[in-house]
Amino acid sequence: MGRFGDYQNELYLQGLAGAVPPFTTDPGKLEDAARQVLDPKPFGYVAGGAGAGATVRANREAFDRWRIVPRMLTDATDRRLATTVLGTAMPAPLLLAPVGVQTIVHPDGELATARAAASLGVPMVLSTASSHSIEDVAAANGEGPRWFQLYWPHDPEVCASLLSRAKDAGYTVLVVTLDTWTLAWRPTDLDHAYLPFLNGEGMACALSDPVFRSRLDKAPEDDLPSAILRWLGMVNGADHGWNQLPALREHWDGPIVLKGIQHVDDARRAADAGMDGIVVSNHGGRQVDGAVGSLDVLPEIAAAVGDRLEVLFDSGVRTGADIVKALALGARAVLLGRPYVYGLAHGGEDGVRHVLRGLLADLDMTVGLSGNRAVTALHPGILRRS
Ligand SMILES: Cc1cc2nc3c(=O)[nH]c(=O)nc-3n(C[C@H](O)[C@H](O)[C@H](O)COP(=O)(O)O)c2cc1C
Repeated sequence: MGRFGDYQNELYLQGLAGAVPPFTTDPGKLEDAARQVLDPKPFGYVAGGAGAGATVRANREAFDRWRIVPRMLTDATDRRLATTVLGTAMPAPLLLAPVGVQTIVHPDGELATARAAASLGVPMVLSTASSHSIEDVAAANGEGPRWFQLYWPHDPEVCASLLSRAKDAGYTVLVVTLDTWTLAWRPTDLDHAYLPFLNGEGMACALSDPVFRSRLDKAPEDDLPSAILRWLGMVNGADHGWNQLPALREHWDGPIVLKGIQHVDDARRAADAGMDGIVVSNHGGRQVDGAVGSLDVLPEIAAAVGDRLEVLFDSGVRTGADIVKALALGARAVLLGRPYVYGLAHGGEDGVRHVLRGLLADLDMTVGLSGNRAVTALHPGILRRS
């Protein structure tokens, strides 16, 4: 594939034959477009946030407070978007965030996402709450780069089993999500009385796990509700402590990244604990309503620990400019959440690819047109706080 920005030419040229893009290229319209094609329950599950939605809004407002100051005549025709994070080479500093239960928006779910990501070389992070198994998603992802996200089960042997399966299936980095040890108050889902896990969605990693199955009185095929409740009891409702991190290290010899960090002291603590990376994230505003916008805390965290571990970022990334801003403020790469799920809802694998190609094209052109030549060289001086 040539330059990502070429997607623009491709779309315009298709217009000569009367074709328009399969769905909008405007990130600001993706959510509304998804509302048109999804039932209210799954749409609400994806789009919704915790409480009054204050943190969903804060995530976007934090981006609006920064502006890029373009530079001219910098010879930016040839620009480098590619980078390597924690041993994973990627064509741009972009990964697909772990998003569970993807079959609620499209029957192919994570398999479609895995294929689209692999076709572009973009790394995906598979959620523990996926609707297809660790191994099936790996097969769909093929040679594509992949990381595994853990919802940390309180049963250590089940945890060890998931990690060993992920390792065997070629997932190279472990992402441990800390901010969702219990589900937040989410009025949209509550009003629908809708929790997809209770319908058996997002349960594939657990139900296919031999150690988890050994914990059950009856096989899930004979008593699904009991299996679901057993699993939810293992991963939901009880927190962990910093002193438990070494136990994880025993079962994972690759890089470990802690996801959900928002406080500079927690970032320091992750570094002190020998972690390899963090994701500065508030789960897309789905957990603590009223929490600070994720981008607002990125600069202080990157300044404190950026030389000790890899600082990744998510929550609110929608455009190429957003990625440039996050990188300039200290992130090594960003994770994309809801937008690719909306793409999945629209067109399965092709829909995810359309969203990704659009975002990568936008990033490519924004980097170049702002006079920058390498994503690894972005710094706060290219921005102005407005
Ligand atoms: C529908 C949905 C499901 C999610 N499931 C998970 C998950 O299983 N594990 C996880 O670590 N994060 C999960 N997240 C959070 C994302 O990984 C990411 O932090 C968030 O979506 C980023 O914000 P954005 O949607 O504004 O890009 C989920 C997010 C959404 C929207």
